[in-house]
Amino acid sequence: MCNAGSPCSAVITGAGAYVPEKVMTNEEWSKLVDTNDEWITTRTGIKTRYFAPEGVYTSHLAINAGRQAIEDAGVNPEDIDLLIVATICPDRPLPSTACFVQHGLGLTNAACFDLVAACSGFVYALDTAKQYILAGSAKRVLVIGAETMSRIIDWQDRSSCVLFGDGAGAVVVERVDEPGKGILSSKIGANGGLSELLRIETGGTAEPLTHDNLDERRQYVKMEGNVVFKHAVRNMSEIATKAVEAAGLTLEDIDWLVPHQANTRIIDAVGRQLGIDASKVVVNIQKFGNTTAASIPLALKEAVTDGRIKKGDNVLIVAFGAGLTWGSSVFRWEK
Ligand code: COA
Repeated sequence: MCNAGSPCSAVITGAGAYVPEKVMTNEEWSKLVDTNDEWITTRTGIKTRYFAPEGVYTSHLAINAGRQAIEDAGVNPEDIDLLIVATICPDRPLPSTACFVQHGLGLTNAACFDLVAACSGFVYALDTAKQYILAGSAKRVLVIGAETMSRIIDWQDRSSCVLFGDGAGAVVVERVDEPGKGILSSKIGANGGLSELLRIETGGTAEPLTHDNLDERRQYVKMEGNVVFKHAVRNMSEIATKAVEAAGLTLEDIDWLVPHQANTRIIDAVGRQLGIDASKVVVNIQKFGNTTAASIPLALKEAVTDGRIKKGDNVLIVAFGAGLTWGSSVFRWEK
């Protein structure tokens, strides 16, 4: 246990990211649905996204990102004792995608499970990893957000298909026997009463797949984008403020905001509400689109690799997604 007698922290010690090679531009989408580069760019900020080619799926993306995070942490696969894969695009309904990733990475000493919280998945998984570590139940957790959204979007629905991309991001979270390091706070929340706003209707036990519902394209993501947008801005700003307070910091202490990449207009509005200057906000949605649970670790890895996020920086992450779910965490970058 991590208590007064044995104080400890949960610290991110490695990060990894992976996107498949196949780029999909706005121009390509405009040949498939009634849209154009101008609409997509001004409404969302997205220019390109990457899609997994045939035969490549969520566990493959997760394994690539996870391997990089393990190498970056300088540990061996056998040293990982828990793997959490946040995804809404499992390889199969059974078993968990985490089991394929555990095997693929050779995490022979790790228990593993999938976590479903849509775009908030990474923040939920990071919070879970922290709780395992602080409870003394795990020493080294691999947290991965991985999605193959190209397989679950409706390629005929212009209001949602242009928004999403495929990818994976990962971090290693380790127990450090010193208090006040690494993850300083994490807050998660949900409102299941708004589950209809962003949903897949069929393919579960409520409505098993039939020829009819497949013909009606009910196996794909459906979204009330406009309503989701408003909830996103409000909930992300509120939960981020709570996470900063819980960390014992103020918003002025935050060096970097790494928000979920759903829409540049959402990101700008959240930054404005929090009073965080745009120069401190990590944005890469123009390249990758909304990669759901992968978006925050993808952006985090990019900002660490290009030297923006440095040792000692206070990083605020915040996400929002289907459920509705939301979450935020503050951590000090210790590498
Ligand atoms: N190309 C061209 N026109 C499009 C289009 C596309 N790809 N998609 C929708 N439109 C049209 C709509 O049909 C509508 O036309 P109408 O006014 O003639 O009915 C018009 O554009 C405006 O639609 P609206 O939904 O009001 O646009 P918006 O400003 O809300 O932007 C989203 C739409 C989806 C980009 C925006 O609401 C959004 O990003 N929401 C958050 C969604 C999200 O990220 N969810 C993931 C979980 S975080």
